[in-house]
Amino acid sequence: MVQKVLPQVVGNNLNLTVTKPKHMEMTMTNNNYIKRLFMFFLAVALFAAPGAVFAGVPDGVKKDLLEKGKKVYFKRCVWCHGVEGGGDGPSAERLYTRPRNFIQGTFKIRTTDSGELPMESDLIKTVKNGLQGSAMPAWGEFLSEDEIVAVVNFVKTLVQDRSFDDTEDEEVNNVITGIAADNGKGPLGDAPWAATKGPYHLGVPQEHIDAGKELFIKNKCMECHGGEGRGDGNPTMKDDWGFPIVAANWQECWNFRGARRDPFNPFNVARTISTGLNGSPMPNFREQMTGKERWQVAAFVNSLCPRKKIDPLTNKPVPDFLIQSVYTEGPVVPKIDDPSWQSSYTDHRIVPLSEETIENPMRHYIAMAGQITRGKRNFDPKTDNLWVSSRWSAEENAVYYLVEFDNRFLSTDPEYPDAVAIQWPGQLQDLFGAEKPYFIYGDSKKPVDVWKANFLAKDYNATNPPNEKGYQLDVTVQEFKGNGFDAISEKESEGKVEVVDSIFHQGRVKVMFKRSLTTEGADDVQIPSEQFIPVSFMQWAGWDKEHDEHMAISTWYYTILKPALPASLYYMPPIIAAVFICFQGWLVWMTKRTRKMYDEGKVQRDELPK
Ligand code: HEC
Ligand code: HEC
Repeated sequence: MVQKVLPQVVGNNLNLTVTKPKHMEMTMTNNNYIKRLFMFFLAVALFAAPGAVFAGVPDGVKKDLLEKGKKVYFKRCVWCHGVEGGGDGPSAERLYTRPRNFIQGTFKIRTTDSGELPMESDLIKTVKNGLQGSAMPAWGEFLSEDEIVAVVNFVKTLVQDRSFDDTEDEEVNNVITGIAADNGKGPLGDAPWAATKGPYHLGVPQEHIDAGKELFIKNKCMECHGGEGRGDGNPTMKDDWGFPIVAANWQECWNFRGARRDPFNPFNVARTISTGLNGSPMPNFREQMTGKERWQVAAFVNSLCPRKKIDPLTNKPVPDFLIQSVYTEGPVVPKIDDPSWQSSYTDHRIVPLSEETIENPMRHYIAMAGQITRGKRNFDPKTDNLWVSSRWSAEENAVYYLVEFDNRFLSTDPEYPDAVAIQWPGQLQDLFGAEKPYFIYGDSKKPVDVWKANFLAKDYNATNPPNEKGYQLDVTVQEFKGNGFDAISEKESEGKVEVVDSIFHQGRVKVMFKRSLTTEGADDVQIPSEQFIPVSFMQWAGWDKEHDEHMAISTWYYTILKPALPASLYYMPPIIAAVFICFQGWLVWMTKRTRKMYDEGKVQRDELPK
């Protein structure tokens, strides 16, 4: 009984804060946080004590595992999921999406019907693989199989007034085993799984992807997921607990909650479409679509996600640490839509580039994280990656960087514009070897040069229906010198960095920076060619009121202005080819001639060369 009372005390304590005078708010909040932590530890001490609390445990729970499961829970899970599983541990408030409240038995990733409890095997997979794109870790790295099964059984006891019966859902199961109920064959035809093998699951025939696109339009997925699937369809959704929620971005499939650390596998999407995500606005589509059709939509959704190598530690793409700037004959075309800037987001080692784009700059993947070392920390950055491509021109003496990122909604508040910045060492010539300034705004000895583009979209409103052409951006460029977090100043000299083209289209921002390689400014980076230059990135989501140090940052990457290809590289390949063809022709001619001589009896068998 004692246990039941405690959380209420914690609750009352919280309510007190509301009545305190405004000027005391800061200290009170701190005090209260400490008090709450104290109460939390007290509650943990009481609850975590071993004892016979497992009387009256419902069926479907393995009682013999509970003592062990409870230990794991109070060691690993309680910080987020709370003492009674209410999703209210001390870390909960900072997280988005919030840790799950287990009490009502609402689980997103299941192989059971909407509203149903999951199978034990679903929960085991969840705990093992985590929920990608949320704070829920992949526990397979830290816990043994036994511990996972045990903690899952303990979590089941936190669900109130419902019982786990672990009955399989035949219809969903058909999707899983690859037998689509409607035709008794594999999900996409005769050969179950044949179309979906391999780590990148690239084998699905185009006809299914095209059919999937039709179904995507017919079933109005875009009302929530946006026209190109970046989750930019609806900014006003809430989950069952009243917290704001956004639709998944299909172009970042590694952030799908149910990705199971296998993000390119269309099965994970087929499962979501078949079962919906309980507690969220994501419905199931079992009445609207047959099993095969759900697989086709899944194949379409899956085809939008760029193939990149996934880092098993972060479960996100491995960053492309070297940004290669491509040498351009004559001037660079300063237009994002120009064919000279087109290339795939997919790693070209996985899907080779097409003829037209083979010489274009590659789109490099840059990993971003919230700034959490100083000032207003950002635990929940809206963007976790950027894509950067670059060209340079000796004729223009200039370099261009095209920076792109997905952001579902932009700010409309001039006080909080969206922004993105490139950071350089201010005094590149003074750095030795791998030396770099401090990665956020440099330090007293090693200054940085920051090029920042602030922008608002013209005539934009987050609730507008998607705009086919996209929105032009109103950009203001600022250049800063940084000598540390507290020593950032806007340069007084005339600006040299330009944004030559920009757009916001279907949830993606694109901004093209240009600067001359050399300048007169003492605080400007001077950019040499054929040398590795440290470079890093910052980004602010105005929609989330990010500004100043409340931002997303990258670590240092390198960029290099690649040299023009030496002329010999242009004429050598044809010459080599010509020589090779002549040689082959000579071989054929020789063989024929020898054979002829042999046939005509001009040479005897033992005279033939061995
Ligand atoms: C750092 C915080 C954190 C820790 C620690 C944590 N979780 Fe979670 N967990 C979350 C978040 C956040 C969600 C909800 C994600 C969402 O809804 O998108 C979640 C959701 C879940 C779910 C619901 C899955 C579903 O399908 O909806 C289960 C089950 C779960 N966690 C089990 C555990 C277990 C077991 C542990 C300990 C071994 C644990 N969690 C530790 C943050 C955490
Ligand atoms: C009413 C709004 C809505 C509609 C319509 C909708 N979705 Fe969703 N969808 C969501 C939301 C919200 C989420 C994210 C839930 C979360 O983060 O927990 C989501 C998530 C997803 C995910 C990611 C699942 C995961 O593992 O995280 C996929 C895939 C998906 N939806 C596919 C579809 C497809 C395909 C359609 C159309 C056939 C569709 N959705 C229609 C709201 C919607």
